[in-house]
Amino acid sequence: MRPPARGVCESDRAVSLREASWRIAQHELAAPAVLAPMAGVTDRPFRVLCRRLGAALTPAEMLSADQRLWSSLKSQRRMDHAGEPEPRVVQLVGSEPQELAAAARVNVDLGAQIIDLNMGCPAKKVCNRDAGSALLADETLIGRILEAVVRAVPVPVTLKIRTGIDPNRRNAARVAAIAQQCGIAALTIHGRTRMDHFRGSAEYDSIRAARAAFARALVANGDITTPAQARKILDFTGAQGVMIGRAAQGAPWIFRDVNAYLRDGHPPPPLLRRLQTEIILHHLESLYEFYGEYTGIRMARKHLGWYCRQHVDGDSLRRTLMAAEDSASQFAAAQRGFAQWTELEAA
Ligand SMILES: Cc1cc2nc3c(=O)[nH]c(=O)nc-3n(C[C@H](O)[C@H](O)[C@H](O)COP(=O)(O)O)c2cc1C
Repeated sequence: MRPPARGVCESDRAVSLREASWRIAQHELAAPAVLAPMAGVTDRPFRVLCRRLGAALTPAEMLSADQRLWSSLKSQRRMDHAGEPEPRVVQLVGSEPQELAAAARVNVDLGAQIIDLNMGCPAKKVCNRDAGSALLADETLIGRILEAVVRAVPVPVTLKIRTGIDPNRRNAARVAAIAQQCGIAALTIHGRTRMDHFRGSAEYDSIRAARAAFARALVANGDITTPAQARKILDFTGAQGVMIGRAAQGAPWIFRDVNAYLRDGHPPPPLLRRLQTEIILHHLESLYEFYGEYTGIRMARKHLGWYCRQHVDGDSLRRTLMAAEDSASQFAAAQRGFAQWTELEAA
């Protein structure tokens, strides 16, 4: 096949570079790939790590709008954004417009630069109330919530939804129109309905349909695991951003790979195993520091289990790592275990 003429390549590249930067209100984002909020996963150490590896935005784990719950250690940790790169995104979940507005105000006073509203969580009840994706059944209430929160805070308010309550009641495009009308600065759509939970595959037709109703930043989400898929989904949906969740577990460098592919049109050289090991060890240290010894090693076990999936001898390494009872021996075992990667690479 003949290579395309030089001028064509250059204009293609100019287009992809232009696409790479986008905005959420006043915040310019340098690249299309963003981290998905994941309760129990996207704590501050993981968010900081993913930002370092190229995620343009790293929303925090959902926080209940019920302020009575905020004194718990879990909420206190979720509200800890010390030293986090800007813009800091706080995600709220709730169902009462005024309660959400008040929670948004307090979080802005504490330093939140974007408030994200969670209407995507599929749990039957979130904090004993119909919240999360259950709200998709009540478009009037959605409008009241969005209006109340947008009016309450001087920072951009963003919204994350699923495509509807169930496959017969997909209303992402109507919710997108409500979001547009209410001044929502960015809309993320996970291509599943509430009823789907995580079953089946995400679909992107609903996201594409919502594009026509929402003129500001649109983010496509669901089952994005490779750079080429990210490119296809951006092209198909007309979204500016792709949100990646589970594929970043054990592979936070996915943001580097996706963004480079979207920018350059080809994959970057794979990240050296030696560098992956450095990232993993640094991640462990930041978990011990953030959570302290007891919870630190437990949170580290979760991430190490995911990192082991990438390892040639993952099962036996996982067993060794899970058996470690304190952070020093867990860290040493990880250092030894993942060093094998580096040796394999050097061989
Ligand atoms: C463990 C876990 C926790 C999650 N917690 C949240 C959350 O706190 N807020 C939210 O909006 N979505 C949450 N989600 C949904 C993700 O943000 C995302 O929409 C979903 O995982 C689909 O993206 P993916 O296929 O890239 O993982 C969670 C998902 C997982 C797997």
